Amino acid sequence: MSMQTLTVTTSTTTYPVIVAEGALTELAGQLAALGLRGRPWLITDTNVMPLHGSALLAALRTAGYDAQAIAVPAGEASKSIEVLGQLYDWLIAGGVERRDVILALGGGVIGDLAGFAAASVLRGIAVVQLPTTLLAMVDAAVGGKTGINHPLGKNLIGAFHQPRLVLADTATLTTLPPRELRAGWAEVIKHGVILDVGLFTELEQFATAVQGSGDQLAIDARMTAIIRRAVAVKVGVVSRDEREQGERIILNYGHTIAHAVETLSGYGHILHGEAVAIGMHAEARIALALGLCDEALVERQHALLCAYGLDPTLPPNLDPAALVAATLRDKKVEARKVRWVLPTAIGSVVVRDDVPEAMVGW
Ligand SMILES: NC(=O)c1ccc[n+]([C@@H]2O[C@H](COP(=O)([O-])OP(=O)(O)OC[C@H]3O[C@@H](n4cnc5c(N)ncnc54)[C@H](O)[C@@H]3O)[C@@H](O)[C@H]2O)c1
Repeated sequence: MSMQTLTVTTSTTTYPVIVAEGALTELAGQLAALGLRGRPWLITDTNVMPLHGSALLAALRTAGYDAQAIAVPAGEASKSIEVLGQLYDWLIAGGVERRDVILALGGGVIGDLAGFAAASVLRGIAVVQLPTTLLAMVDAAVGGKTGINHPLGKNLIGAFHQPRLVLADTATLTTLPPRELRAGWAEVIKHGVILDVGLFTELEQFATAVQGSGDQLAIDARMTAIIRRAVAVKVGVVSRDEREQGERIILNYGHTIAHAVETLSGYGHILHGEAVAIGMHAEARIALALGLCDEALVERQHALLCAYGLDPTLPPNLDPAALVAATLRDKKVEARKVRWVLPTAIGSVVVRDDVPEAMVGW
């Protein structure tokens, strides 16, 4: 599996990121190789526990680990102070020690929640990210952002806490609901647009091949390689800018509009990746209006989003004025100026804070 290992290297830490079909079967060996010999505390959700959690727990116990497991309710609502409190109760009553390791098995909700529990319990213990959604594989699991929501907003409480290992087993995607898988493709495509034209081309070719075979959900070596390439984009960005002081903002491409769309349509109605697809199309059109890119880029990106089952059209019922107002409340706003990430070519973006409000949401 060494051929498939990516490495995050920041000024403070370095850790392997493994993307492979069947990677979870290697977990016990990987923990030992990293010297993580304390007790594993497996945190997952109620959907993932029966699908992948129980088998993993059994495998760890067979390998000699005194592993424990807990499943929190599936869904964004679990990124709360109440559920975090339940995790602290479970860990502390169970006798968690500094040398132990939290295993975050699930989508981005579990990665963020369990990651923050690991960042804070006993002032910080090791965490291993085991993403089981496409979104978590290519985005949430890598980079060390952890946290929970506050009633007044998403992700307002948290910490940077880099994992010791990320193990993305693409075989787990076979059980993912198709809508969740589609939403994840938006982030994969985004990584192509911001930094990797070769990934974008590969996605175009893969879409054609899949359409030809009619076999949309087969998780095979080719899809795993594409996912690994998308993960590599994130690995590169966070290695160069761990704390989002510079380049890391480019991962926000499509997200300014996406967050506004999510806010205006009410959380839960539209998946994050679906909103990102809408945001990427709208933001590419802003780039076109500013003369930063040509029409061909907008069309090529639109075609690829559609090929992966995403609908990039701005919902017609969204009021443009409300959209502009919502973008100004985005976390990436500095001094009331929205910092837009805009494409100039496939594989290349610029950051601009001088976009006239009239260009947003037309
Ligand atoms: N930390 C970061 O850098 C970062 C980046 C992006 C997003 N996020 C966070 O990630 C969260 C969204 O993540 P998500 O889209 O993965 O959502 P999620 O964790 O809610 O997972 C989506 C759904 O899929 C289910 N599921 C997960 N894996 C499955 C599998 N293999 N088979 C069947 N069902 C499965 C879950 O139970 C859930 O119902 C948000 O809270 C967002 O804020 C964090």
